Amino acid sequence: MTENNEAIFEQAVAVLRANDRGSYTVPTEGLYPFQWNWDSCLTALGQSHYDEQRAWIEIETLFAHQWPDGMVPHIVFHVESDGYFPGPKVWSTNRPVPTSGITQPPVAGFAIKRLFERARNRPLAERYARSLLAKVDAWHHWFYANRDPHGDGLVAILHPWESGRDNSVDWDAALARVPTDGVEPYVRRDTQHADPAHRPTQAQYDRYLWLVQRFRGLGWNNNLLHDASPFRVVDPGFNAILIRSAADLADVAEALGEHRIATDNRARAAAGRTALETLWSESHQQYLCFDRATGEVIGNASIGGLLPIFAGLDVSRAAELGRTIAAQMAAVRYGVASENPADPRFEAKRYWRGPTWLVTNYMLTDGLRMAGQQETARAIIDASLDLIRRSSFAEYYDPRSGEPCGGTQFSWTAAMVIEFLAGAS
Ligand code: DGY
Repeated sequence: MTENNEAIFEQAVAVLRANDRGSYTVPTEGLYPFQWNWDSCLTALGQSHYDEQRAWIEIETLFAHQWPDGMVPHIVFHVESDGYFPGPKVWSTNRPVPTSGITQPPVAGFAIKRLFERARNRPLAERYARSLLAKVDAWHHWFYANRDPHGDGLVAILHPWESGRDNSVDWDAALARVPTDGVEPYVRRDTQHADPAHRPTQAQYDRYLWLVQRFRGLGWNNNLLHDASPFRVVDPGFNAILIRSAADLADVAEALGEHRIATDNRARAAAGRTALETLWSESHQQYLCFDRATGEVIGNASIGGLLPIFAGLDVSRAAELGRTIAAQMAAVRYGVASENPADPRFEAKRYWRGPTWLVTNYMLTDGLRMAGQQETARAIIDASLDLIRRSSFAEYYDPRSGEPCGGTQFSWTAAMVIEFLAGAS
């Protein structure tokens, strides 16, 4: 590593240590004061380079708050803080430690395999992986039982927050159908921590809240939520992550002699890859979202439709998708933008409507490398590290200017930097 890269590595470790709350890591002080699901699992990857046990504890803590039905919530409210809205009272999920009532992209299976493979302390890794296997398997089972109740082979998200890409253009039409009547009065806290011009709009927040109230009104009964939600969207990115995690969990299960878990997860991954192909668009040369409530394809080229490279695709499909990713890289100075910059709805600084995020860059590079497309992967890693040199560890970045956006000193940005510098992706 060059001296400059060594310094960046050390700064990234310092960000993770500053956000470390002992058994979980906050995404960033202030804006996000609790444990977030996919943030935590990706953060663990960074932690594993300097403290393996701490990395395992991060994921163990998240799964300690799994619901009895298998769902793993998107937020665990370990402490009280009025700095975030909506807090535990709004969710009212009636859990011993309060949690939200929705989930998030299931990267845990992928993260566990990576920690397991690279482990320097084998007995420790085997102990933690073994204790997590059945829990992650139960979560995967939960997805297909509750988010694919009619057996289409793909799971739906019921709230934009579940996608992790909260205000993506992908959700505009589906979210516009969500009513706002009866939304209880509220005060946003996110816009007190971050520039409102970088955050979702008020109209989107009203609908986010309406959905939370609707699900709360149904007692968070996951048997009911899918068919009762006016927002039911199949996101290729989300499904790609689930497919990859199922395949990776199967590998770890096989290595530990857990054959039933291995077989079930291999079957899920295989069926998921077949079903994913129904979302491929010849004209867009990428995957597209599908609105399950209306039965319509959502004709928008977001990063959600590029992420399937992470699922592991056949050679010709990976080549096609790789060309689209390379073209998206070439369209901006600091790719990969979360929305096609040529789309009139692209907004360079507004959260998931344009900015570049290092976590999606990381998953894209991992998938491109699996497909042997080293050159595009290298270009994405170089752009990611340039962003850090220019703008430090921001939540996300303007893909044209490289300006930092959203929160600062962000855990998962730091973790991805550690991964890139350690050559792990
Ligand atoms: C937020 O509050 O911005 C989150 O993305 C919801 O998890």
